[in-house]
Amino acid sequence: MENIELIFKEKFGASPEAIYSAAGRVNLIGEHVDYCGGKVLPAALSLKCCVAARRNGTNIVRIAATTLDDFTEIDLKDTSLYKSYRWGSYQAGVADEMLRAGYRLVGCDILYDCTVPFGSGLSSSAAIEVATAYALAKLGDNPIDKVELAVISRRAENNYCNVNCGIMDQFASAVGKAGCAVLLDCATLAYEYIPLDLKDCALVLTNCKKPHNLVSSSYNDRRGEVHTALEVVKQKFDVENLAEVTPPMLDECRALMPPVIYRRAKHVVTECERVRRSVEVLKSGDLESFGKILNESHISLRDDYEVTGVELDTLAEEAWKRPECLGSRMTGAGFGGCTVSLVKRSGIEQFISNVGENYKNKTGYNADFYVAEIADGIIDEGTV
Ligand code: GLA
Repeated sequence: MENIELIFKEKFGASPEAIYSAAGRVNLIGEHVDYCGGKVLPAALSLKCCVAARRNGTNIVRIAATTLDDFTEIDLKDTSLYKSYRWGSYQAGVADEMLRAGYRLVGCDILYDCTVPFGSGLSSSAAIEVATAYALAKLGDNPIDKVELAVISRRAENNYCNVNCGIMDQFASAVGKAGCAVLLDCATLAYEYIPLDLKDCALVLTNCKKPHNLVSSSYNDRRGEVHTALEVVKQKFDVENLAEVTPPMLDECRALMPPVIYRRAKHVVTECERVRRSVEVLKSGDLESFGKILNESHISLRDDYEVTGVELDTLAEEAWKRPECLGSRMTGAGFGGCTVSLVKRSGIEQFISNVGENYKNKTGYNADFYVAEIADGIIDEGTV
């Protein structure tokens, strides 16, 4: 915290007024179902985007990062100008959406210090968006609740940054709670905290380190495919979302859709079942069963949804071989990023050295490992 204050003073020549943070996230189960109206079970991480901020008395938002030398300036009079910026488009998008929604924004200086690794599939972008929305709301003296922060941030990513993501990442980043997963119904935004009692186990995140980019990946193609599937199902059943469809209902529609569209829908429908079962077994403390469901989810994402790739598959397969591992699967959008594994604490070192070495031999990449700490989403780190 002191560090960010010091750097803020160096960059902006004054002390910040306040420090806030928003979390990165891991999704435990419920993958690629948020945009189908399904339930998801993410949790906020202690890896987070911290921002130090102060009002600057102008109409300009100046943004800097602890890891970058230059500033970016966003003029609140025309927030539409920054869509092509590599550093600044998320922040400008958030400001743009907040102005549209009627928030009062004031010029300010904001310094970002993000410990969520970029491109890791742990939602560094959501953490940046949510932290920005919170800082802008606070500095302009606007009341804002956590769900609204998530909604605004997601809109920025959809409308301004052209990523057609669902609500899960921003929701977990804002609403997450220490020691709990968030069971979120993406059709209604109703949510409940599920205490995560992992007993003698921990969640280990493994970053495959393969470069990936959500915008250029096949993410938007998958959204199109499940939309097609839903249109077909609607010919037979009165449903709003694919998440309402049961496996027998989908089977009745199978002959009406191309095999690839059926497989995409099958993933969504079975993944929704897995979320339901996961909540049951987690509530009863049955971690062995939860581990098996994680494995089933990975197989479905690999074979039916086809969003894994050789790196994530290798990480999961190497994890499945380890006696200390109860289950493992890719988390997030896929195509790169991280796996999440449920590992006995006593075996974590073994797990990391063994999976890391075999993965390196097979793919050439040096994976990074993090033992996840489940933390609060948005945090008021205090006034300075
Ligand atoms: C990305 C998106 C989320 C969600 C996941 C897949 O993280 O931002 O909205 O769709 O992929 O579950």
